[in-house]
Amino acid sequence: MRLNLRAVEERVARLGGRELYDREFIFDLLLAYGKPQGNVTRLRNGSLSVASDKATEVAQKNVVYFKETTEDPLAVIDELKTSPAVVRYRTRFVIVTDYTELLAVDTKTGENLMIPIRDIDQHFTFFLPWAGMEKAQYVTEAHADVKAAERMGKLCDELLVANPGLMEGTHGRHAINVFFARLLFCFFAEDTEIFTKSQFTNAVGSHTQADGSDVGDFLFTLFRALDTEDKADKPTHLAAFPFVNGRLFTIAPEDALPAFTKSARDLLIALGTLNWSKINPDIFGSMFQAVVNPLERSDLGQHYTSVPNILKTIEPLFLDGLRDEFDAGFDSVRRLESLLERISAIKVFDPACGSGNFLVIAYKELRKLEHAILERLAYLHPKHQVLFTESKIHIENFYGIELDDFATEIAILSLWIAKHQMNTEFREKFNVSIPLIPLKEAGQIQQGNAARVDWNAVCPNDDGEIYLIGNPPYKGAKAQTKEMKADFPFVFGGRPFNKNLDYIALWFVKGADYIGGTRAELAFVATNSVSQGEHVGLMFPMIFAGGIEIGFAYTSFKWANNARRNAGVTVVVIGLRVARSGPKYLYTDDLQIGAKNINGYLADGANIFIGRRNSPLGASRPVMVFGSMPRARGLVISPRERQRMIDNDPLSSEFIKAYIGTKEHVDGLERYCLWIEDGQVDLARSVPAIAERLAQVTDERGKSDAGSTAAYAAKPHRFVQISYKPTDSIIVPAVSSERRDYIPIGYRGADTIISNLAFAVYDAEPWVFALITARMHIVWTRAVGGQHESRLRYSNTIVYNNFLVPPLSDAVKEQLTVMALRVLDVREYHCEKTLAELYDPELMPADLRAAHAEVDALVDSIYSKRNYETDEQRLSDLFAMYEAMTAEEAANAPAKKQRGRRK
Ligand SMILES: C[S@@+](CC[C@H](N)C(=O)[O-])C[C@H]1O[C@@H](n2cnc3c(N)ncnc32)[C@H](O)[C@@H]1O
Repeated sequence: MRLNLRAVEERVARLGGRELYDREFIFDLLLAYGKPQGNVTRLRNGSLSVASDKATEVAQKNVVYFKETTEDPLAVIDELKTSPAVVRYRTRFVIVTDYTELLAVDTKTGENLMIPIRDIDQHFTFFLPWAGMEKAQYVTEAHADVKAAERMGKLCDELLVANPGLMEGTHGRHAINVFFARLLFCFFAEDTEIFTKSQFTNAVGSHTQADGSDVGDFLFTLFRALDTEDKADKPTHLAAFPFVNGRLFTIAPEDALPAFTKSARDLLIALGTLNWSKINPDIFGSMFQAVVNPLERSDLGQHYTSVPNILKTIEPLFLDGLRDEFDAGFDSVRRLESLLERISAIKVFDPACGSGNFLVIAYKELRKLEHAILERLAYLHPKHQVLFTESKIHIENFYGIELDDFATEIAILSLWIAKHQMNTEFREKFNVSIPLIPLKEAGQIQQGNAARVDWNAVCPNDDGEIYLIGNPPYKGAKAQTKEMKADFPFVFGGRPFNKNLDYIALWFVKGADYIGGTRAELAFVATNSVSQGEHVGLMFPMIFAGGIEIGFAYTSFKWANNARRNAGVTVVVIGLRVARSGPKYLYTDDLQIGAKNINGYLADGANIFIGRRNSPLGASRPVMVFGSMPRARGLVISPRERQRMIDNDPLSSEFIKAYIGTKEHVDGLERYCLWIEDGQVDLARSVPAIAERLAQVTDERGKSDAGSTAAYAAKPHRFVQISYKPTDSIIVPAVSSERRDYIPIGYRGADTIISNLAFAVYDAEPWVFALITARMHIVWTRAVGGQHESRLRYSNTIVYNNFLVPPLSDAVKEQLTVMALRVLDVREYHCEKTLAELYDPELMPADLRAAHAEVDALVDSIYSKRNYETDEQRLSDLFAMYEAMTAEEAANAPAKKQRGRRK
């Protein structure tokens, strides 16, 4: 059962404040988040539980590992959270309690909870992922990474003032980027036992002048000392600094030597007093990208790519499979050893890696798995433990391409820091220290334009186990720069391509080329518009033609919500691989659904590309057309003008009708037009105000460059394009906010002229309104209609005509009619509100929702006997029916050519 936030809150509230707690607590907690009663019963009687010790533990795969204890809960949870059992079962939440304190860890976000158990109600949001609500992760301004980035930004500003021209040219910019990466390493190193405590900051404080004048020289000497192996070759005052190596401190001729001021020195020392051990490479990278780019700084800390979101890419791509293998080989030394071999050879490649967050998370997850395997091996075979002196996962198996020079440096640094952090975890588990320095290896990150760089030169595809991951840049065709447009021929070579492709298509096409015919697979995050509407037919045919298929996909979800700009993007994750047997999955929220084939719309269905169609498919229904177009401002009348005309001559009202397009309809705006039938022209002209307007129209049209408009100068009383009929009508907005659960379609009488900025159905009946208002139709619209600036785009020829409607009995039409009228009645009841307000998902009244839910259920039942759990199931049925119907149509009328294509 899917619960909303308020329902969960109310249910968890009942668990708070009790006098006594016992084992029932965990079962009640799971039920409170909507976990099925049947599962909870089976957990209680032990048949579903995968716990190692059923007397004190309750564990369900993917969901929870719960342990009651009489020992120190903190020590218990520390050990349990990375234990082989927790890794094996991909446990989301680990909970330990002595029934007074409750400790919990979210294994995906790394967040901890430590509360008196009776306060559970105040912390109900912690477990929301159980109810399918993933946590948005914001980084507050007090966060260590944000503070550090802000201060680093200030230092950068100060140095730029003191050293005008410092960042000029590519060399200058690169040199300052490297300079900052070195400082970062030093700060991190002195807080994490790579250097001794505060070694760097103390050295700056005690070996330089207070006015800052010699800090630049000092740092230059220090960096050289860090790159010098032999102690004897270092200046005496720097002899205690270790040898770091790894190209980080290798001095190049173009290295920057910024002159410091007093305040730059003070800032440097203040930076050293921050606690850098809390720095998280997957967060700080995103923050630091803004350090050398002041324009981006205002957004610092507002959002970053959260770990659960990155996991949506790498878990289905390879981590889930590795964990399954760990599970299957849990009791076999041989299988565990071969799994270790396998993961040590895996290569991960992000061809738009930014500051390396995807690579860092992939690296950390592989290390966590390695540690769990090693721990298990030590248990099965105690002699193994002696051999654990090094990790087999090497950061040089992590590859990246990044356009931005600073981000490239940070990505390399982030991998070192991630490695050190995992080495620390290794030491805690196995009591063996793996030193980070001298840095022996580095992540293989190259600065460059991924559209032009040869990916095989960066990460040679030797048919090993290679995974391409990332969140490459998206830009719609209209927003692309000239440079971006110029990248396309580099990727497509001689192959034709369409200029409406999104920029990210380059990564998909180049990625498909790269993995073609090999074992390599990829998964990229992309704006959801790539798998909607026209774009599907532009991008996927070429990918599929290369023998590639979609192995898995995450359907639309919100990536991050930037509170300041309020511009959350909706994205999908698309996994590609060489076509093969083996399961394919569609993921929606936390549901995983098996699929026979995943098409470009990310639905379980054949590889269809939906094009324009001239008449409605399936059951007979009225056509949908564009509204009427006046092509003359003189025919359009404001409410005030209308009132004045009627006050002056009541006869005018005969010739005035309401005139609405999408905006007027949705925002409840009034507007009117002159509507004069051919036989009424003389009568209409007898109203002076109308005669005046008709003269104005003649004049206006006469001046038009468009011949078709000018031709109507002689018929000023008429709209140029007329689709209006004096019948009931349905108005369908041409675009509708993606946030809305429903498209606010309207039902009108014969006295409204629908403008060409909306679609219209004449000869309308309420049952048609019900059909296209239903969720089934909205799901279809979202998939095949596409988007216009994050709004759903409607189209008669693509959406309405291709929407298959099965034969409908009179009884069903009657039921649909009743429900359509109910929706309209409820809207009428709330008539003081505009449709924009009524359909705002945050504000939609409960009775309106209920009325729509009834329409949805009835329309669903027309398409399927089962209850749909997800929109993906709806879409899959629609595609299957579309395919069958168009095939039948083609068989019956082979000569008639439809533009919907099949591959
Ligand atoms: C959406 S960001 C993702 C970065 C990182 N994974 C994250 O989550 O912050 C896309 C990255 O692609 C980089 N980029 C843009 N165009 C590129 C190109 N032509 N070649 C390589 N990288 C590019 C940008 O600099 C940016 O760092």
